[in-house]
Amino acid sequence: MKIIAGPSSQELGKKISSNLNLPLLSLNFKHFYDGESYLRIDEDINDDEYIIVQSTHPPQEKHLIELMLIAAYLKEKKADKIHAIIPYLCYARADKQHLKGEILSHQKSLKFIETSGVDSVITINVHNREAFLSSENDMEKYDLTCLEYSINQLKQKYEKKWFVIAPDEGRINEARISANILNCDFNYLKKKRDPHTNLVSFEQPDFDITNKDVLVLDDIISSGGTAINAAKIILEQNPASLLMFFIHSLAKNDVFEKLKYVGVNQIISTNTIPNNYIEQIDIALILSNFVEEKFL
Ligand code: R5P
Repeated sequence: MKIIAGPSSQELGKKISSNLNLPLLSLNFKHFYDGESYLRIDEDINDDEYIIVQSTHPPQEKHLIELMLIAAYLKEKKADKIHAIIPYLCYARADKQHLKGEILSHQKSLKFIETSGVDSVITINVHNREAFLSSENDMEKYDLTCLEYSINQLKQKYEKKWFVIAPDEGRINEARISANILNCDFNYLKKKRDPHTNLVSFEQPDFDITNKDVLVLDDIISSGGTAINAAKIILEQNPASLLMFFIHSLAKNDVFEKLKYVGVNQIISTNTIPNNYIEQIDIALILSNFVEEKFL
Protein backbone atom coordinates (compact mmCIF):
# COMPACT_ATOMS: atom_id res chain seq x y z
CA MET A 1 0.00 0.00 0.00
CA LYS A 2 1.27 3.46 -0.91
CA ILE A 3 0.17 6.97 0.00
CA ILE A 4 -0.27 9.97 -2.25
CA ALA A 5 -0.65 13.28 -0.43
CA GLY A 6 -2.86 15.38 -2.69
CA PRO A 7 -2.25 19.10 -3.19
CA SER A 8 -4.81 20.07 -0.53
CA SER A 9 -3.62 17.67 2.20
CA GLN A 10 0.14 17.56 1.94
CA GLU A 11 0.86 17.63 5.68
CA LEU A 12 -1.87 15.18 6.63
CA GLY A 13 -0.81 12.75 3.88
CA LYS A 14 2.81 12.89 5.09
CA LYS A 15 1.76 12.29 8.69
CA ILE A 16 -0.36 9.25 7.75
CA SER A 17 2.48 7.79 5.70
CA SER A 18 4.93 8.34 8.54
CA ASN A 19 2.54 7.00 11.25
CA LEU A 20 1.98 3.82 9.23
CA ASN A 21 5.45 3.56 7.79
CA LEU A 22 3.96 3.39 4.29
CA PRO A 23 5.78 4.80 1.24
CA LEU A 24 4.75 8.30 0.23
CA LEU A 25 4.77 8.83 -3.53
CA SER A 26 6.04 12.21 -4.63
CA LEU A 27 3.34 14.21 -6.29
CA ASN A 28 4.50 17.15 -8.36
CA PHE A 29 1.86 19.77 -8.80
CA LYS A 30 1.51 23.36 -9.85
CA HIS A 31 -1.19 25.68 -11.06
CA PHE A 32 -1.26 27.12 -14.53
CA TYR A 33 -1.92 30.82 -15.07
CA ASP A 34 -5.62 30.12 -15.71
CA GLY A 35 -5.89 28.15 -12.47
CA GLU A 36 -5.90 24.64 -13.89
CA SER A 37 -3.84 22.01 -12.06
CA TYR A 38 -0.76 20.22 -13.36
CA LEU A 39 -0.12 16.88 -11.63
CA ARG A 40 2.73 14.40 -12.04
CA ILE A 41 3.68 11.22 -10.21
CA ASP A 42 7.24 10.18 -10.98
CA GLU A 43 7.16 6.69 -9.49
CA ASP A 44 5.76 3.80 -11.52
CA ILE A 45 2.25 2.74 -10.62
CA ASN A 46 1.59 -1.00 -10.38
CA ASP A 47 -1.16 -3.31 -9.21
CA ASP A 48 -0.68 -2.19 -5.60
CA GLU A 49 -3.26 -0.50 -3.34
CA TYR A 50 -3.10 3.30 -3.15
CA ILE A 51 -4.46 5.82 -0.71
CA ILE A 52 -5.01 9.36 -1.94
CA VAL A 53 -5.31 11.92 0.86
CA GLN A 54 -7.10 14.97 -0.46
CA SER A 55 -9.48 17.19 1.46
CA THR A 56 -12.03 18.99 -0.70
CA HIS A 57 -12.35 22.37 1.01
CA PRO A 58 -12.40 25.61 -1.04
CA PRO A 59 -11.70 25.81 -3.88
CA GLN A 60 -13.86 22.67 -3.76
CA GLU A 61 -14.14 22.04 -7.48
CA LYS A 62 -10.39 22.28 -7.94
CA HIS A 63 -9.66 19.94 -5.04
CA LEU A 64 -12.35 17.54 -6.20
CA ILE A 65 -11.07 17.42 -9.75
CA GLU A 66 -7.47 16.95 -8.56
CA LEU A 67 -8.62 13.96 -6.52
CA MET A 68 -10.49 12.52 -9.48
CA LEU A 69 -7.57 13.12 -11.88
CA ILE A 70 -5.19 11.27 -9.55
CA ALA A 71 -7.68 8.41 -9.11
CA ALA A 72 -8.32 8.15 -12.85
CA TYR A 73 -4.57 8.01 -13.48
CA LEU A 74 -4.07 5.25 -10.89
CA LYS A 75 -6.98 3.35 -12.39
CA GLU A 76 -5.56 3.67 -15.89
CA LYS A 77 -2.24 2.31 -14.59
CA LYS A 78 -4.11 -0.72 -13.18
CA ALA A 79 -3.89 0.05 -9.47
CA ASP A 80 -5.49 -2.80 -7.57
CA LYS A 81 -7.52 -0.62 -5.20
CA ILE A 82 -7.86 3.10 -4.76
CA HIS A 83 -8.87 4.48 -1.39
CA ALA A 84 -9.68 8.17 -1.09
CA ILE A 85 -9.22 9.76 2.31
CA ILE A 86 -11.23 12.95 2.03
CA PRO A 87 -11.03 14.50 5.51
CA TYR A 88 -13.54 17.19 4.55
CA LEU A 89 -16.03 16.00 1.95
CA CYS A 90 -17.37 18.88 -0.12
CA TYR A 91 -20.91 19.33 -1.41
CA ALA A 92 -22.21 17.15 1.42
CA ARG A 93 -24.57 19.79 2.79
CA ALA A 94 -26.91 19.70 -0.20
CA ASP A 95 -28.32 16.30 0.71
CA LYS A 96 -32.05 16.98 0.70
CA GLN A 97 -34.41 19.10 -1.33
CA HIS A 98 -35.80 22.25 0.31
CA LEU A 99 -37.03 23.87 -2.89
CA LYS A 100 -38.44 22.14 -5.96
CA GLY A 101 -35.79 21.36 -8.57
CA GLU A 102 -32.79 21.59 -6.24
CA ILE A 103 -30.02 19.25 -7.38
CA LEU A 104 -28.72 16.97 -4.62
CA SER A 105 -25.02 17.66 -5.05
CA HIS A 106 -23.98 15.32 -2.22
CA GLN A 107 -25.22 12.21 -4.01
CA LYS A 108 -24.06 13.50 -7.41
CA SER A 109 -20.52 14.35 -6.33
CA LEU A 110 -20.10 10.91 -4.74
CA LYS A 111 -21.06 9.44 -8.12
CA PHE A 112 -18.38 11.56 -9.81
CA ILE A 113 -15.78 10.29 -7.34
CA GLU A 114 -16.81 6.70 -7.99
CA THR A 115 -16.68 7.20 -11.75
CA SER A 116 -13.07 8.38 -11.47
CA GLY A 117 -12.07 4.95 -10.15
CA VAL A 118 -12.20 5.29 -6.37
CA ASP A 119 -13.10 2.05 -4.56
CA SER A 120 -13.54 3.42 -1.07
CA VAL A 121 -14.08 6.82 0.50
CA ILE A 122 -13.02 7.56 4.05
CA THR A 123 -14.17 10.85 5.46
CA ILE A 124 -14.49 12.55 8.83
CA ASN A 125 -17.73 13.76 10.39
CA VAL A 126 -19.63 14.06 7.16
CA HIS A 127 -22.50 16.52 7.38
CA ASN A 128 -25.23 13.88 7.19
CA ARG A 129 -24.00 10.36 7.87
CA GLU A 130 -27.24 8.70 6.87
CA ALA A 131 -27.34 10.45 3.49
CA PHE A 132 -23.66 9.63 2.93
CA LEU A 133 -23.93 5.95 3.80
CA SER A 134 -27.19 5.43 1.93
CA SER A 135 -26.12 7.23 -1.24
CA GLU A 136 -26.40 4.92 -4.22
CA ASN A 137 -23.00 3.85 -5.48
CA ASP A 138 -20.75 0.82 -5.18
CA MET A 139 -17.92 2.44 -3.26
CA GLU A 140 -17.21 1.41 0.29
CA LYS A 141 -17.97 4.42 2.46
CA TYR A 142 -16.63 5.15 5.93
CA ASP A 143 -17.51 8.14 8.06
CA LEU A 144 -15.10 8.42 10.98
CA THR A 145 -15.76 10.65 13.92
CA CYS A 146 -13.13 12.82 15.53
CA LEU A 147 -15.49 14.26 18.12
CA GLU A 148 -14.55 12.17 21.17
CA TYR A 149 -10.86 12.44 20.33
CA SER A 150 -11.04 16.23 19.96
CA ILE A 151 -13.08 16.80 23.11
CA ASN A 152 -10.68 14.64 25.10
CA GLN A 153 -7.82 16.79 23.78
CA LEU A 154 -9.66 19.92 24.94
CA LYS A 155 -10.36 18.34 28.32
CA GLN A 156 -6.68 17.51 28.83
CA LYS A 157 -5.53 20.95 27.75
CA TYR A 158 -8.03 23.23 29.49
CA GLU A 159 -9.43 22.99 32.98
CA LYS A 160 -12.77 24.77 32.94
CA LYS A 161 -16.30 24.90 34.37
CA TRP A 162 -17.71 23.63 31.09
CA PHE A 163 -21.21 23.96 29.68
CA VAL A 164 -21.74 22.61 26.16
CA ILE A 165 -24.09 24.25 23.67
CA ALA A 166 -25.10 22.93 20.26
CA PRO A 167 -25.89 25.78 17.84
CA ASP A 168 -28.96 23.92 16.59
CA GLU A 169 -31.03 20.85 17.34
CA GLY A 170 -29.16 18.87 14.66
CA ARG A 171 -25.97 18.88 16.78
CA ILE A 172 -27.59 17.87 20.07
CA ASN A 173 -26.16 14.37 19.98
CA GLU A 174 -22.63 15.74 19.60
CA ALA A 175 -23.31 18.13 22.49
CA ARG A 176 -24.49 15.22 24.64
CA ILE A 177 -21.38 13.15 23.85
CA SER A 178 -19.10 16.11 24.57
CA ALA A 179 -20.85 17.01 27.83
CA ASN A 180 -20.50 13.41 28.91
CA ILE A 181 -16.73 13.53 28.34
CA LEU A 182 -16.43 16.92 30.05
CA ASN A 183 -18.78 15.86 32.84
CA CYS A 184 -20.99 18.92 32.50
CA ASP A 185 -24.45 20.07 31.39
CA PHE A 186 -25.47 20.78 27.82
CA ASN A 187 -28.26 22.37 25.86
CA TYR A 188 -28.97 23.67 22.36
CA LEU A 189 -30.02 26.88 20.64
CA LYS A 190 -33.15 27.10 18.56
CA LYS A 191 -31.95 28.18 15.13
CA LYS A 192 -33.79 29.21 12.00
CA ARG A 193 -32.28 29.64 8.53
CA ASP A 194 -34.19 31.38 5.76
CA PRO A 195 -33.94 29.04 2.72
CA HIS A 196 -34.00 32.01 0.33
CA THR A 197 -31.59 34.45 2.01
CA ASN A 198 -29.63 31.83 4.01
CA LEU A 199 -29.75 34.22 7.00
CA VAL A 200 -29.59 32.63 10.44
CA SER A 201 -31.46 33.74 13.57
CA PHE A 202 -31.76 32.32 17.09
CA GLU A 203 -34.35 32.33 19.85
CA GLN A 204 -33.23 33.62 23.23
CA PRO A 205 -31.80 30.67 25.26
CA ASP A 206 -33.92 29.55 28.22
CA PHE A 207 -31.07 28.03 30.25
CA ASP A 208 -28.55 29.54 32.66
CA ILE A 209 -24.87 29.77 31.69
CA THR A 210 -23.79 32.55 34.06
CA ASN A 211 -20.11 32.08 35.00
CA LYS A 212 -19.84 28.91 32.94
CA ASP A 213 -17.09 28.25 30.39
CA VAL A 214 -19.23 27.65 27.37
CA LEU A 215 -18.14 25.29 24.61
CA VAL A 216 -20.09 25.69 21.38
CA LEU A 217 -19.44 22.92 18.92
CA ASP A 218 -20.46 22.56 15.31
CA ASP A 219 -19.46 20.36 12.41
CA ILE A 220 -18.73 23.26 10.06
CA ILE A 221 -18.03 26.96 10.08
CA SER A 222 -18.42 28.49 6.65
CA SER A 223 -19.94 31.97 6.28
CA GLY A 224 -19.84 32.25 10.07
CA GLY A 225 -23.53 33.25 10.13
CA THR A 226 -24.37 30.49 12.59
CA ALA A 227 -21.33 30.96 14.83
CA ILE A 228 -21.37 34.77 14.98
CA ASN A 229 -25.09 34.98 15.78
CA ALA A 230 -24.82 32.13 18.28
CA ALA A 231 -21.83 33.83 19.96
CA LYS A 232 -23.70 37.12 20.27
CA ILE A 233 -26.74 35.57 21.91
CA ILE A 234 -24.61 33.41 24.25
CA LEU A 235 -22.37 36.30 25.31
CA GLU A 236 -25.46 38.30 26.32
CA GLN A 237 -25.99 35.66 29.05
CA ASN A 238 -22.66 36.49 30.80
CA PRO A 239 -20.72 33.22 30.60
CA ALA A 240 -17.20 33.19 32.11
CA SER A 241 -15.75 32.42 28.69
CA LEU A 242 -16.71 31.17 25.24
CA LEU A 243 -14.75 28.61 23.26
CA MET A 244 -16.01 27.65 19.82
CA PHE A 245 -14.96 24.35 18.30
CA PHE A 246 -15.58 23.44 14.68
CA ILE A 247 -14.63 20.13 13.15
CA HIS A 248 -14.23 21.58 9.65
CA SER A 249 -13.11 25.19 9.40
CA LEU A 250 -14.16 26.33 5.95
CA ALA A 251 -14.34 29.97 6.96
CA LYS A 252 -11.96 32.65 5.78
CA ASN A 253 -9.83 34.37 8.41
CA ASP A 254 -11.99 37.51 8.47
CA VAL A 255 -14.81 35.36 9.90
CA PHE A 256 -12.51 34.33 12.77
CA GLU A 257 -11.65 38.01 13.25
CA LYS A 258 -15.36 38.81 13.56
CA LEU A 259 -15.79 36.05 16.13
CA LYS A 260 -12.94 37.49 18.19
CA TYR A 261 -14.42 40.96 17.79
CA VAL A 262 -17.80 39.93 19.21
CA GLY A 263 -15.98 38.44 22.22
CA VAL A 264 -15.25 34.76 21.53
CA ASN A 265 -12.23 33.81 23.67
CA GLN A 266 -10.95 30.81 21.74
CA ILE A 267 -11.57 29.35 18.30
CA ILE A 268 -10.40 25.80 17.64
CA SER A 269 -10.89 23.40 14.76
CA THR A 270 -9.36 20.14 13.57
CA ASN A 271 -6.89 20.00 10.69
CA THR A 272 -9.27 18.27 8.26
CA ILE A 273 -8.83 21.65 6.55
CA PRO A 274 -5.42 23.17 7.22
CA ASN A 275 -5.46 26.66 8.75
CA ASN A 276 -2.53 28.39 10.47
CA TYR A 277 -4.67 31.21 11.77
CA ILE A 278 -6.49 29.26 14.48
CA GLU A 279 -5.57 26.49 16.92
CA GLN A 280 -6.03 23.05 15.31
CA ILE A 281 -6.37 19.56 16.72
CA ASP A 282 -4.40 17.04 14.66
CA ILE A 283 -6.59 14.14 13.51
CA ALA A 284 -3.90 12.25 11.54
CA LEU A 285 -3.86 9.52 14.18
CA ILE A 286 -7.58 8.78 13.72
CA LEU A 287 -7.07 8.25 9.99
CA SER A 288 -3.86 6.25 10.46
CA ASN A 289 -5.47 3.96 13.04
CA PHE A 290 -8.43 3.36 10.76
CA VAL A 291 -6.23 2.46 7.77
CA GLU A 292 -4.18 0.13 9.94
CA GLU A 293 -7.23 -1.68 11.32
CA LYS A 294 -9.19 -1.84 8.08
CA PHE A 295 -6.73 -2.16 5.23
CA LEU A 296 -3.36 -3.40 6.52
C1 R5P B 1 -25.62 23.44 9.63
O1 R5P B 1 -26.50 22.61 9.73
C2 R5P B 1 -24.22 23.14 10.02
O2 R5P B 1 -24.16 22.28 11.12
C3 R5P B 1 -23.43 24.41 10.33
O3 R5P B 1 -24.02 25.06 11.43
C4 R5P B 1 -23.43 25.34 9.16
O4 R5P B 1 -23.10 24.65 8.00
C5 R5P B 1 -22.47 26.49 9.37
O5 R5P B 1 -22.48 27.30 8.24
P1 R5P B 1 -22.32 28.87 8.35
O6 R5P B 1 -20.99 29.14 9.02
O7 R5P B 1 -22.34 29.35 6.93
O8 R5P B 1 -23.47 29.40 9.15
